[in-house]
Amino acid sequence: MLAASVVRTDATDPLSGLVVGERPAPSPRPGWTTVTVRAAALNHHDVWALRGAAGLRAEQLPMILGTDASGVTPDGREVVVHTVIGSSIRSQTATVPDEPRSLLSEKHPGTLAEQVAVPDGNLVDKPAELGFDEAACLPTAWLTAYRMLFREARLHPGQSVLVQGGSGGLASAAISLGAAAGLTVVATGRTPSTRAWARSLGATEAVEPGTRMDRGTRLGRRVDAVLESVGAATWQHSLRSVRPGGSVVVAGVTSGDPAPALLRRVFYDELTVRGVMVGSRDELEDLLAFLVRTGLRPQVGAVVALTDVAAGLRRMIDGDVRGKVVVRPGADRP
Ligand SMILES: NC(=O)c1ccc[n+]([C@@H]2O[C@H](COP(=O)([O-])OP(=O)(O)OC[C@H]3O[C@@H](n4cnc5c(N)ncnc54)[C@H](OP(=O)(O)O)[C@@H]3O)[C@@H](O)[C@H]2O)c1
Repeated sequence: MLAASVVRTDATDPLSGLVVGERPAPSPRPGWTTVTVRAAALNHHDVWALRGAAGLRAEQLPMILGTDASGVTPDGREVVVHTVIGSSIRSQTATVPDEPRSLLSEKHPGTLAEQVAVPDGNLVDKPAELGFDEAACLPTAWLTAYRMLFREARLHPGQSVLVQGGSGGLASAAISLGAAAGLTVVATGRTPSTRAWARSLGATEAVEPGTRMDRGTRLGRRVDAVLESVGAATWQHSLRSVRPGGSVVVAGVTSGDPAPALLRRVFYDELTVRGVMVGSRDELEDLLAFLVRTGLRPQVGAVVALTDVAAGLRRMIDGDVRGKVVVRPGADRP
């Protein structure tokens, strides 16, 4: 089958270790199902894997990339693939209880392929209301954003949230979900165009990173929670933007680990700092139900064939795409 793999990691030239070519199809395995992938989606996780920052050891290479997919099982069931395999640290469904947690492409071959094998418990029915492209956008970025907003920050309608890094996949999902749930969403974006994008998704306002919440925004006060995935470039702004007693939910460090950590602010303002790794299978079902009920859909910024995955990754690395990049493996076959 055709698949996109990391064959060599390179911290500065990540795409140099990407190969799209023939790989063995998954072998049948008790308790696992092979899904024919109708659509996959790209995430920054794929870039981390190519850079050598996703924990892949040399002996695991080549590894098929990709954490997101929707597709069809051999008996014709239309599914979304939950990407978390193994026992998780907190309250996630353990589909392979004897294994430590991994995401697809970290230990088991990933979704950027014509087929992917997953434990049966990782299959979630795709609602008919969602297309395969839309459904493929959900298991990583959208599920993480859902968990950050509603489970970890426990936000409810009328409360406020600051989303750092407005145009990224995770941040775009958080803005869309937060707005649909009746939150006041302030987003940051580094350029006028990323700020305009954040507003188009439903952000109440979009400001430059570093803007004071109390003086520089219409909100005029600090927010109830901050969603942080940028790291070093925005961490201090995040801690200064949240109200005393509020929470900062962390899912990534795209720009590196922050220093100083501003711990004085954490204890003086009695802040809660929570970390998130994706979300549970149950939360993925809840997310799908939320989209069906509200009519909200992920924004697909680009669709590429599997043979063009390098171009899709390049656009993501360059910040040259708004919304998710969807990959259609079937587009390469006549
Ligand atoms: N823990 C988890 O389960 C989980 C799940 C999903 C993602 N993540 C992590 O979350 C991060 C985002 O993932 P993604 O797939 O959404 O990536 P993405 O689509 O590439 O988005 C990256 C975002 O980071 C912002 N950014 C990058 N450098 C910045 C800087 N120096 N200053 C301010 N903003 C900066 C960009 O902001 P602009 O809009 O201004 O360009 C962009 O919106 C990654 O680190 C990823 O690994 C973690």
